[in-house]
Amino acid sequence: MKTEIIKIDPRDPDPVKLQYCGAVIRYGGIVAFPTETVYGLGANAFMASAATKVFEAKGRPADNPLIVHVCDYDMAETAACFASPEQERLFYALGSEFWPGPFTMIVKKRDTVPDNITCGLGTAGIRMPSNAIAARLIRAAGVPVAAPSANSSGRPSPTRFAHVLEDMRGKADVIIDGGDSNVGVESTVVDLSGPVPMILRPGAVTRDDIARIAGDCLEYDWLREKVRVDKPLSPGMKYRHYAPRAKMTVYAGEREAVRDRIISMIRAEKKAGKRAGVLATEEQICYYKEADAMLSLGPENEPEEHARRLFGALRKFDEENVDVIYAQALGLGGVDDAVMNRMFRAAGGTIEQIDS
Ligand code: TXA
Ligand code: MG
Repeated sequence: MKTEIIKIDPRDPDPVKLQYCGAVIRYGGIVAFPTETVYGLGANAFMASAATKVFEAKGRPADNPLIVHVCDYDMAETAACFASPEQERLFYALGSEFWPGPFTMIVKKRDTVPDNITCGLGTAGIRMPSNAIAARLIRAAGVPVAAPSANSSGRPSPTRFAHVLEDMRGKADVIIDGGDSNVGVESTVVDLSGPVPMILRPGAVTRDDIARIAGDCLEYDWLREKVRVDKPLSPGMKYRHYAPRAKMTVYAGEREAVRDRIISMIRAEKKAGKRAGVLATEEQICYYKEADAMLSLGPENEPEEHARRLFGALRKFDEENVDVIYAQALGLGGVDDAVMNRMFRAAGGTIEQIDS
């Protein structure tokens, strides 16, 4: 397929170009577009055949549902309804706080949304993005837009146009070149099926943020998860994700001990003729001069910066052709939780604890 590239200025999006891209979605095509979290690959959420194209372009397993993106509450209610008055109350209370933004709520779905989008679940994840291009594109489409991250399945999510081009050229009808995603990790996914909201995927909106509005908030304990979940709450949990081509290991523990371990691992790999990369904070990265590639996540006390840089760094290691990647674990809490969750998955679902 020939992919059309359309450049749109995020500070002043051209309405004519957006109208065109919206029509491509409305009539069944697939369009990669920027959002504040990561780029998405969008299709008409009322059209099963368009969603099929998205699954094919990504090579995505058919049992992993797509998030439905909307530009306002009226549109949200064309795709979603509510299982109870309490679910509706929470939806509006949390939406008025965190929408538009990096936040997805799982509620009961309407029959308007075909089963292949939600994988027969009876629920749908709904998100109202804040990115100006995304919001206006959805409005131009005039229908909710089903969109997963615009990466090939299993690869790191795309935070810049160049990443999308790498994965989706020849697979999408249109790719919008619309600047960088400024959050950098995907939206927080919250299930509103129970009496208390439950975070299925951590993101920039944190558990504390949600608990402040909802009174309480649970979180799926991804760190305790061992290799495979047989009955995952969210189908996306069971797949290896965000993975660079190189084998990645994340080390946690006392700082000097972690440093010593990584340095000895680099030496061993190099002796074996392999190329090693290291991912660490700005304060720590200078200790790894022996590595073939050193990438910084930014200053230790700037978790938002870690989120912005992570996926780009994982792709950069591939470009540098490293065989192994060693990463220093971040402290948990706030947005670093979301960053650690992605590092954990990129490393195949384990973190190595170093005892000093
Ligand atoms: O920030 C984001 O959410 C990005 C941008 C493009 O909006 N989208 C994104 O989509 O990350 P995707 O498909 O890569 O991840 C969607 C996640 C998956 O883990 C999926 O299993 C989960 O949301 N999900 C979607 N619908 C669900 C449902 N009805 N029940 C449980 N989990 C659901
Ligand atoms: Mg994804």
